[in-house]
Amino acid sequence: MNIFEMKNLCYGGDYNPEQWIGYDGIWDEDLRMMKEARINCVTLGVFSWAMLEKEEGVFDFSWLDDIINKLWENGIHVILATPSGARPPWLAQKYPEVLRVREDRTKQLFGKRHNHCLTSPVYREKTARIDAELAKRYGHHPAVIMWHVSNEMNGDCHCPHCQEKFREWLKIKYHNSLDELNHAWWTTFWSHTYTDWPQIESPSTIGENIVHGHNLDWTRFTSDMTIDFFKSEVAAIRKYSDLPVTANLMDYEWMDYYKLADNMDIVSWDNYPKWHNDDETLIETAHKTSFMHDMFRSMKQKPFLMIESTPSLVNWHGVNKLKAPGMNTLASMQAVAHGSEGVMYFQIRKSRGASEKFHGAVIGHSGRSDARVFREVAALGEFLKNHPEIKGSYTASEAAVLYDFENAWAVSDLCGLKQNRGYRDTCMAHYAAMKSVGINIDVIGKTADFSRYKVICAPMLYMTSEGTIAKIRDYISGGGTFIATYLMSYADENDLCHLGGLPGGLMDVFGLWNEEIDSIYENNAVIADGKEYTVTDYCELIHPDADTDVLGVYKSDFYAGEPAVTRKKFGAGTAYYLAANTGADHLKPLYSKIFADNDIKPLIDSFDENISVTRRGDTIYIMNFSGKKSTAVYKGETITLQPYECVLKRA
Ligand code: GLA
Ligand code: ZN
Repeated sequence: MNIFEMKNLCYGGDYNPEQWIGYDGIWDEDLRMMKEARINCVTLGVFSWAMLEKEEGVFDFSWLDDIINKLWENGIHVILATPSGARPPWLAQKYPEVLRVREDRTKQLFGKRHNHCLTSPVYREKTARIDAELAKRYGHHPAVIMWHVSNEMNGDCHCPHCQEKFREWLKIKYHNSLDELNHAWWTTFWSHTYTDWPQIESPSTIGENIVHGHNLDWTRFTSDMTIDFFKSEVAAIRKYSDLPVTANLMDYEWMDYYKLADNMDIVSWDNYPKWHNDDETLIETAHKTSFMHDMFRSMKQKPFLMIESTPSLVNWHGVNKLKAPGMNTLASMQAVAHGSEGVMYFQIRKSRGASEKFHGAVIGHSGRSDARVFREVAALGEFLKNHPEIKGSYTASEAAVLYDFENAWAVSDLCGLKQNRGYRDTCMAHYAAMKSVGINIDVIGKTADFSRYKVICAPMLYMTSEGTIAKIRDYISGGGTFIATYLMSYADENDLCHLGGLPGGLMDVFGLWNEEIDSIYENNAVIADGKEYTVTDYCELIHPDADTDVLGVYKSDFYAGEPAVTRKKFGAGTAYYLAANTGADHLKPLYSKIFADNDIKPLIDSFDENISVTRRGDTIYIMNFSGKKSTAVYKGETITLQPYECVLKRA
């Protein structure tokens, strides 16, 4: 049995039974309460290395055998983790090279987690060894349905070994030619021309960190090494087990998750939004969250797994607010609606000590099943158990937002404009405007198949290679509708500016020349259709061609009356250009019209602004992200939604 063959969605979460060895009765109590909550699956072993290999090469799997067997006797499946997210002290003591060196060249001491060197041969060897032992022992255990590799892989290492690897990586990329590298990094600036490979070091605050091509290559290298590390663990598992593999991804921006996802059987992610915060409305938080769900789903165009979430609160937000009654169910249903194959929590039983002892859990320190959180978790478990038809269901989207990790790195690094350029936030703002029309959306990378979509928007797509430029050109000329914004196509894949006019390689497609970009103190406005829409942050000064439609003009500044929003027919398609950062008041009607023009229909007739609507399989999920009642209209029927309610309707 593997995760794909399970009848129901996964329901459960991270379980750390090794923390309770010596506490008589706790495991049995856990099993009883898991069953009461309809939990059918737990993740084991994420941080168990020290309890499995107490000294080098001396393995003790007895406790893991016991708990896996007990779980299985109770009908509970296991997602088994490899323990590389944190290592035992003996390993760091014996092999200090496994510990990371920070960018400021400080060697890390033993401690915490996620702090190993990504390229260390010793670390890879020790990890491969325990992974293989685990795969050999449990790869065919009937309870085990999937491998969970490591934990939230992140960060970089600047040790001598990583420096050497970086130079090797650069030699491959630049065909052993320092001339090529010097050109790509524009090293004639500030007298940086490299004449010998050992002169090159990773970026550092005590050395070089303002050469954009250099920074970009370092992030690419780190992302590649993380993927390589993941692959080395999978290879160790594959000696003995062909169960599906996954890794728990996060909302991190620094590594190319699209590339990593290609190496997984199912994409999983840890979802910890700041529900009920005081700087945005709940529906705004909901749209940001579903952007992430949709991105992880779109990576494989398949259901994903929300492998962690909290049933109540976390311990690491600035303010750790409880989820209001109903909010956990709603947030969980949102994940399911957007394609999750389960609802998994961190954690099943709350730790007694250390930093996560006040993090939410299914079972609290009281151990009581009449607790508010436990009751809500159990009710959701019952619901999911009764809806096996959700499993594996999928609905393709007709519209997509293009969000590119490499572009994120380049945009955050460029010197100029405003300090907070907000690439992901801007993609999320466009996504939210599209979502408020009531349709399904994909979030895709630049290597995705564009031909799936009638409409693609690509906010702030600053960095474009020749290949990406050609792809956009083909998509639009072939009939696609493409929405670009300010910062479109300024630089190539090495962050060297496009010459000859912007948007680089696409001036004819959008039917304009973008001459300058202004970062503004005071808001401006776009005047379109006799209405005024607020503009913040950026205004580009563009020159449309004669046959380009001008849909809006600037209200103020020395460019008052000049074009700000345009549309151009190119081949069989349409290219929109938003030269300024307009808000939801402008984007919502714009996308509504674009979807209508493209025959993309809202899933339901109408709904209040607190509501989010998504289709999965034959079901439409209507979700009220509000502590107040809201209404929606579907097939002529008015539906009243209670606070935080999710109503399901047949499509
Ligand atoms: C992450 C980790 C977990 C746990 C949770 C707490 O997602 O993967 O081990 O620390 O955060 O929110
Ligand atoms: Zn290293």
